[in-house]
Amino acid sequence: MQEKVKVIIGDKTIELPVIIGSEGEKAIDITALRQQTGYITLDPGFANTGSCVSSITFMDGEKGVLRYRGIPVEQLAENSTFVETAYLLINGVLPTKKELERFSALLNQHSLVHEDMKIFYQNYPRHSHPMGILSSMVNALRSFYPELPTSSAEEEINITVTRLISKVRTMAAMSYKISRGHKVVYPHPELDYCSNFLNMMFENPVKPYEIKKEFVKALNVFWILHADHEQNCSTSAVRLVGSARVNLYAAISAGISALWGPLHGGANQAVIEMLKQIHAGGEKVSRIVERAKDRKDPFRLMGFGHRVYKTYDPRAKIIKKTCDSLLDTLHISDPLLDIARELEEVALHDQYFIDHNLYPNVDFYSGIVLRALGIPTNMFTVMFAIGRLPGWIAQWKEGADDPKWKLYRPRQVYTGPTTTDYVGIDKRG
Ligand code: CMC
Repeated sequence: MQEKVKVIIGDKTIELPVIIGSEGEKAIDITALRQQTGYITLDPGFANTGSCVSSITFMDGEKGVLRYRGIPVEQLAENSTFVETAYLLINGVLPTKKELERFSALLNQHSLVHEDMKIFYQNYPRHSHPMGILSSMVNALRSFYPELPTSSAEEEINITVTRLISKVRTMAAMSYKISRGHKVVYPHPELDYCSNFLNMMFENPVKPYEIKKEFVKALNVFWILHADHEQNCSTSAVRLVGSARVNLYAAISAGISALWGPLHGGANQAVIEMLKQIHAGGEKVSRIVERAKDRKDPFRLMGFGHRVYKTYDPRAKIIKKTCDSLLDTLHISDPLLDIARELEEVALHDQYFIDHNLYPNVDFYSGIVLRALGIPTNMFTVMFAIGRLPGWIAQWKEGADDPKWKLYRPRQVYTGPTTTDYVGIDKRG
């Protein structure tokens, strides 16, 4: 028998159905609440609100669990590649060898970016943030790659998906090259997705770039860890904007804008800036921790805390291990890693952080990995965006395929003035 909850409002009692997820999570379905009672619910930041049912990603914030389509992220980071994980997220199952080869071939086929887009890059002011550029350029893709009139809706979506995953990587590298005044390096058909990205970023006509296998592995892990995270801020933005039935490029462009924020994807850049500041002698570790605890100071310890994880972020554990092994194997020394370790040690033993369940999140160590790969700090959030693309796409697709997908349109509790007469300008004040 279906579980129900009773809601008593005044002398009226209604019953609302309970939805139970495959991992036992329970939700009260309030679809009929307003219609039957006239009441709405209020949940700032949506911390208690499920916006959809989804079969893509499972997180357990108390136990520190993250699974894509049921597969633990630890297993994917160990054994999979970013391209394979992208396929898994978007299609729901791991690809066969043939399917993976076909997907990789399609990614290669669609990896070029329209030459006219270069002009856009060249005309952005030099100091522009790459996330702002990326968001605009992804939106512009629809103009350069309009809908294909002859194909079926499904084929059109598949091509758009492949174009996005492939071209966003090319566009990111292109923007870096152009910002440095360097010649753009084109994708190479013989290289895999991650090697191709590194090559497009760092190959130089007078200084050939050696693609290290350790870098390729680390980049695969970084992107796998970022590939999806259920209904986070940017994914919710993609679903919300997408619910108005805009094209996929426009919905992804909205996700990129949301990700840019320092409380979300922008935290990876903010962490490194914070560590650099400590390294330059601007702040001491103890002072940083004290500031983070001070309620009068808006400062927060970047790379710490999470809306869902109330324990160590499982992604942070993996990226920390990747970071240690990358730096050790390649004998790279980074003073910021020592500072990060010290900061983590102090914070994890501090009563405030213990009481608030604040642990390192994925952004705490990921910047050090990116620095080791040679990625400039202002491109860190772009790196997150490339990784999150498969998740955004899978979530958008799940919404678009759902016959119950409705226009997102939350309610509010209005607290402004009641009816107020207009006063002519000469009678005011
Ligand atoms: N440093 C100091 N205090 C913190 C921090 C922090 N990093 N994070 C949360 N708190 C405190 C906060 O001040 C509040 O204290 P009190 O209850 O005493 O007023 C309490 O913890 C709850 O904070 P909240 O803002 O209500 O919690 P939230 O669930 O909205 O916050 C968060 C989640 C990620 C926005 C927050 O932890 C934060 O700002 N962290 C720093 C930014 C960061 O690292 N973001 C990356 C998140 S992981 C990558 C991603 O998925 O985007």
